[in-house]
Amino acid sequence: MKLYKSIYIFSPALRIWHWVNFIAIVVLFLTGLYIGTPYFTTSVGYEATFAYEKNITMGHFRFIHFVAGYILLASFLFRIFIAFFRKGDRLFIPKFWSIEYWEGLKETLKEYLLISQHPPMIRNPLARTAYFFVYLMIFFMIATGFGMYGLSDPDGFWASVFGWVVWSLGGEFQAHFWHHVVAWLIMLFFVVHVYFVSREDWTHKNGEVSSMFNGVKFFKKDPVDIEDVKEG
Ligand code: HEM
Ligand code: HEM
Repeated sequence: MKLYKSIYIFSPALRIWHWVNFIAIVVLFLTGLYIGTPYFTTSVGYEATFAYEKNITMGHFRFIHFVAGYILLASFLFRIFIAFFRKGDRLFIPKFWSIEYWEGLKETLKEYLLISQHPPMIRNPLARTAYFFVYLMIFFMIATGFGMYGLSDPDGFWASVFGWVVWSLGGEFQAHFWHHVVAWLIMLFFVVHVYFVSREDWTHKNGEVSSMFNGVKFFKKDPVDIEDVKEG
């Protein structure tokens, strides 16, 4: 007897985007922290000549940051592009205006507070809300990042596309500040995200973690939001 039904959710394109995005963000965060606080080359670190030998100069770190920045931008554009081709890859705006959204949110919170299990869902409303803000945060990092990047060439391409972001935030200092704050907010999401996908996997035995590798989740009953992945 077949107990679980598998539902194909994430296309290979979305899964590739997810892991490229993940690696780019980890590299950006680590190199970004160094840019903010160059801990290897101050009085407590290496003398400049030795730092150069070991490839731990600010120039190298900034170079890696910008390469990963371009990768993040390319993968972000790719994510928007694929959203037009498959229903399962749509970009969601959480339905704050619908009763079902708030009901689903209540069910999810009850599960997270260990009160009761939520009904089978492809993506719960809390996760949808978080992903919506994550996409916004990634866009914010791209806009402020390339805005700051463009400062070294005020008549160049990046200054004309994102230069206004720096000045709208109040100037260079504020752009650095908010770029730094949102970097930490993304890390906060990262930790909570890994906790919740692992928890979902454990409590519902639905292959949640592996779904970002093989594209499939498992359900005993049809999930309440099955329409999300039905084509046509
Ligand atoms: C999630 C993605 C990203 C994270 C986590 C991140 C993180 C950081 C952090 C922590 C800093 C140091 C800020 C400070 O304290 O002054 C920084 C600086 C910077 N980042 Fe990013 N960043 C990201 C994306 C980008 C992108 C896409 C670009 C585009 C090229 C970019 C360009 C820059 C620039 C130009 C600086 C300032 C460099 C300098 O002043 O020498 N960042 N980043
Ligand atoms: C910087 C780190 C990460 C970011 C920014 C991130 C972002 C995202 C986003 C935006 C989605 C939703 C995709 C969509 O449907 O549009 C997602 C889904 C998912 N991610 Fe991550 N992720 C990160 C790290 C990880 C890690 C380390 C794991 C491994 C445990 C993971 C596992 C998953 C899984 C299983 C899903 C599907 C969950 C669902 O259907 O709700 N992610 N991630």
